[in-house]
Amino acid sequence: MYRGNPDHVAIIMDGNGRWGKKRRLSRSEGHYAGAKRMEEIIDAGIACGIKVLTLYAFSSENWSRPSNEVNYLMDLPVRFFNKKLPEFMKRNIQIRISGNISPLPDKTREVLAKAVARTEKNTGIIVNFAFNYGGRGDIVQAARALIEEVRNGNISEDDITEEKMQQFLYTGDLPSPNMIIRTGGEKRISNFLLWQSAESDFYFTDAYFPDFTREMFAEAIGQQPVNSYLSG
Ligand code: IPE
Ligand code: IPE
Ligand code: MG
Repeated sequence: MYRGNPDHVAIIMDGNGRWGKKRRLSRSEGHYAGAKRMEEIIDAGIACGIKVLTLYAFSSENWSRPSNEVNYLMDLPVRFFNKKLPEFMKRNIQIRISGNISPLPDKTREVLAKAVARTEKNTGIIVNFAFNYGGRGDIVQAARALIEEVRNGNISEDDITEEKMQQFLYTGDLPSPNMIIRTGGEKRISNFLLWQSAESDFYFTDAYFPDFTREMFAEAIGQQPVNSYLSG
């Protein structure tokens, strides 16, 4: 159990497919159930006073899944943000994306960019979606960006420090996660925040993500169960 008050909690939302299979549903129906649960976990994060919640929604390795599943996962953010963006504005939630959004289908890239732009000035919880994210790719893109900075004369080679490197990661100015939760029973990192997790606590639960309740989230971060701000 994490002791203290975590500012930044990151979740590897795993087990959607198996959740669907267990119910004789499709993997995509598992992803839909996971997205519903994500709404509850964002709400729980606010109620728990978390400042940053990073949610691993699509890894750079997930492209190798069957195309119908990939297509579904590219559609989900469109449906999710079209439905939730007004509420996110009302609740002062700032959306960020960590990952390479350029190869995404237009509709997905556009809805993600819109969510980030609309909520940019919000000052409440930061919900950071790791989408088309990979930890190795993150470090490579940061290295490339640093080289570009040196080449343009903005910084010198001697300015390349751990702090500078960190600023150029997709997570930018966000603090490193105090805690990383993985649902679904596997105990591995799956190319998630490799650099950023250097000092994180890890919490593993067998619960499939669509079964991961707000009470389980509160327990994971060492808090009493909290009621929803919305529905009580
Ligand atoms: C995690 O659930 C969600 C994504 C990777 C998008 P999975 O789809 O990996 O579900 P399992 O692990 O196969 O059950
Ligand atoms: C990690 O889960 C990625 C996300 C939760 C988005 P995966 O199911 O893709 O990871 P592996 O394949 O089990 O390592
Ligand atoms: Mg999985």
